[in-house]
Amino acid sequence: MAGSSESTPPPSLALFASPDHLDPELQSFLEESSFRLCKWFAQAGKSGPLPNVNNFPNVAPSLKGLSGQELLSDIQLIMDGSYQPSHPGALAHLDPPPLTASIVADLICAGLNNNLLAEELSPSLSRLERDLCQWFCQKIGFPSISGGVAASGGTLSNLMALVVARHHANLQADPKAVVIASEESHVCLSKAVRVMGLSDDSLQRINTRENGHICLEELQKKLSILKSEGRKCFAIVATAGTTVRGAIDPLEELAEIARSQSIWFHVDGAIGGIFACAKSTSPLLKGINLADSITLNPQKLLGITKTSSLLLVANKNHLLSTFSTGLPYIEPALENPHGGEMGLQGTRSGEVLKLWLGLRQLGEEGISHLLKTSIERRIYIQRKLDSLKISVLGGPLHIISCTPRSADDLNSEHWSVITRKKLLKHNFMLSRPKQNGRFYLKIVMGNPHTLKSHLDQLAHLLNDSVVG
Ligand SMILES: Cc1ncc(COP(=O)(O)O)c(C=O)c1O
Repeated sequence: MAGSSESTPPPSLALFASPDHLDPELQSFLEESSFRLCKWFAQAGKSGPLPNVNNFPNVAPSLKGLSGQELLSDIQLIMDGSYQPSHPGALAHLDPPPLTASIVADLICAGLNNNLLAEELSPSLSRLERDLCQWFCQKIGFPSISGGVAASGGTLSNLMALVVARHHANLQADPKAVVIASEESHVCLSKAVRVMGLSDDSLQRINTRENGHICLEELQKKLSILKSEGRKCFAIVATAGTTVRGAIDPLEELAEIARSQSIWFHVDGAIGGIFACAKSTSPLLKGINLADSITLNPQKLLGITKTSSLLLVANKNHLLSTFSTGLPYIEPALENPHGGEMGLQGTRSGEVLKLWLGLRQLGEEGISHLLKTSIERRIYIQRKLDSLKISVLGGPLHIISCTPRSADDLNSEHWSVITRKKLLKHNFMLSRPKQNGRFYLKIVMGNPHTLKSHLDQLAHLLNDSVVG
């Protein structure tokens, strides 16, 4: 039945899988769905990263439930209208094509429908989460008492890290308590301080240098000023891989400053942290092991299907002491705390499954290859851009942002809008970030389908977009 035509509908699809026998209708429904997904991938190169069609299915349930075939037709419309990360020109964001093993694990995960809230609701998956976090901690060079928890995205991992940091500093009752990060840190930190009920100026952003690194002198000055004002700082956040240019803050220096003032040191490694997990690229993240906590987003470069983020902490007891409330409606945990006691979320899917299977599929060599080749593609296109016409914001990772050298802020906006449209006509999708009033086109080299020939064409179009 696999790969068969779409004209043989499953006659009647059971609402729930039989606990007694293998259900051929369910099997053919899953096979047909897989076939449609494979077709969707296979056609990715034929159009662009953004869909042309906009035929949308009915949203409300009809009076009588739909047949399997009708459901597949509905879902096909959503697939046809979806962003296509497998197109080689999909270079706008940190959203690469999914690893094939990760897709399968996502499907199995949905079928298992286990719950990471408690051990008894996810015996093997809870253990997998603990063990996999340990593996990441060990790769990063954290001590043996370290551990972590999976979360639905980097925003949540960063929020949890700040909640832990504030709890550690015992500043929960201080709405004026401060977090320090660079001006190029991710906007989710602003969200975090709002959610935490802190005052608007609780996130103090420090200017960056030319290279996108937080300015250490300004940071030191800021700490002195805060002290003189009687304001307490409970976390210094380093960004390992900034969103617009992939810059990495000086981790060792920041760790030393934080340690000398007994302040929690968090590394937002949503973009760059993963580079610490391969020998070939780990020198870029020197000092990351000095952090108290780290956010990693394997969903970004490794192609683990969304969402996949981890919060790792140097001492896992901090997670427990911050988030544990007891779970009075669940059997007591035996050896290890329940997953629901280690973080903010209660019910969670076993999304660690797709991370684990994806890593198993890649192997250490595959992980290293993905990381290294993404940097190589960035270096390749950066060399192809005409430096007399185009100014580039970059770092050591796989992201660059460019803007015409001659443009002022207003012209840069006009250029970015026109050029993005033109590039889309050639099936290249870039994003259009704004930094310090200036618009850029950002290229993220996380797509393994992008070849040198594509990069040659893209560089040519970008060079041509700037006159003079
Ligand atoms: C540096 C950085 N931190 C945090 C985040 C937030 O991660 P998420 O979108 O998974 O919530 C992003 C997102 O791009 C990011 O670039």
